[in-house]
Amino acid sequence: MSKILIKGGKRLEGEINLQGAKNSVLPILAGTLLCNDKCIIHNCPNIADVETSIKILEALGCVCEMEDKTLTVDPRNAFGFQIPDDLMREMRSSVVFLGAIIGKTSKAVISSPGGCELGPRPIDLHLSALKKMGVTVTEEHGFLYCEAKKGPVGTEITLGFPSVGATENIILTAVKAKGLTIIHNAAKEPEISDLADFLNSAGARIYGGGSDTVYIHGVDTLRGTEHTIIPDRIVAATYMACCAVTGGELVLKGAMPSHITSILSVFRDSGCDVRVSGKTLKVNAKNKILRVPTIRSLVYPGFPTDAGPVIIAMLCKAKGTSVFVENIFENRFRYADELKRLGAKIETQGKIAVIEGVDNLSGATCKCTDLRGGAALVTAGLCAKGETVIDEIYHIQRGYDDIVNTLRNVGADIQYI
Ligand code: EPZ
Repeated sequence: MSKILIKGGKRLEGEINLQGAKNSVLPILAGTLLCNDKCIIHNCPNIADVETSIKILEALGCVCEMEDKTLTVDPRNAFGFQIPDDLMREMRSSVVFLGAIIGKTSKAVISSPGGCELGPRPIDLHLSALKKMGVTVTEEHGFLYCEAKKGPVGTEITLGFPSVGATENIILTAVKAKGLTIIHNAAKEPEISDLADFLNSAGARIYGGGSDTVYIHGVDTLRGTEHTIIPDRIVAATYMACCAVTGGELVLKGAMPSHITSILSVFRDSGCDVRVSGKTLKVNAKNKILRVPTIRSLVYPGFPTDAGPVIIAMLCKAKGTSVFVENIFENRFRYADELKRLGAKIETQGKIAVIEGVDNLSGATCKCTDLRGGAALVTAGLCAKGETVIDEIYHIQRGYDDIVNTLRNVGADIQYI
């Protein structure tokens, strides 16, 4: 099954249980390498990036077992320090294993991660921080050879940009380093807090995870632990957008509304009725979607860049014109051309996208350019008149746990072909 076929126009109605957060489970799986016993991870999403992470863990010597949404990792025989080249290429975010491998074996070999569909995405912030912790990094023939002969040493680091991945790599290197590491201007995304909670439950001493200053006191050992992954806030935004474009009514269970306040306010601005009670989100989009005031993607708690594509897909059908300013990645609008094939009126210039709402989109063939761009095409296809065929859906399967059956179960006419 390599394509998705959608017959647009069906109103979504029903209940969805939110999957665990892709961007939380990946660094936490890296963190299991640092533990000296089995780790049990609950609410683990069945997505391709988790499958790739499991392959990396097994290549390093771990024994992994996935049962429904619970993944057990036994890291006791994991002494490897090289991530296979093909797996590095399969998932750029595997760079987050770098810190954990160094934290465990004091050395690591990875292929320098190429750019990805969102632009160059260098790892300069990661490497300069690791060097400050006593890690030597040499690059030869496209491979990065990292080593800290006497093990990483705690130090004070100020990030020039609050990079999520760099913050995670520093934490993973620091938890068993000698002495205290302080990160200034750290990323504050909820996934950082979840990683800190997981590591602390295994005996780490991390303070301020989720704030802009994180203190990590190095410890000698981490024990096995059990942890439940936080819900995926970007998947929540995706299903809310699917509900909005079909004039539907959805109940999202297992949400963390406090993680998505910036997203909820955009949906409310667009005329959706959004009700929050505990971990349940109710979205009712009985009215026509309205244009919204300019949206600017920012680091947390600002509007998340990853939710941009699905919100822009929704705004394609809004009454009026909206503007989206992308401040995080250079090359994030590649999917706009694919949305235009469905009749969207989007003009992009550098980091600005201007979306002029149209009354109707019309089904067409299109292809995914990246993970969230693919989710934008699904969102648009659900409300386009006629049939939409989406190709190269492996991008979507990297981060969405069974999006097709999830949407079918709430009324979408969508299938793999
Ligand atoms: C994480 O990527 C997420 N991925 C991304 O989600 C998300 O878009 C991003 O954070 C921002 O929230 C995972 O968690 C696996 P960054 P990451 O380091 O860590 C530049 C998705 O769709 N930068 O905060 O790579 C970089 O080029 C993905 O799930 C450097 O210049 O994000 C980018 O412009 C897409 N040098 C900006 O910072 C560095 O050393 C944000 O990058 C590192 C980053």
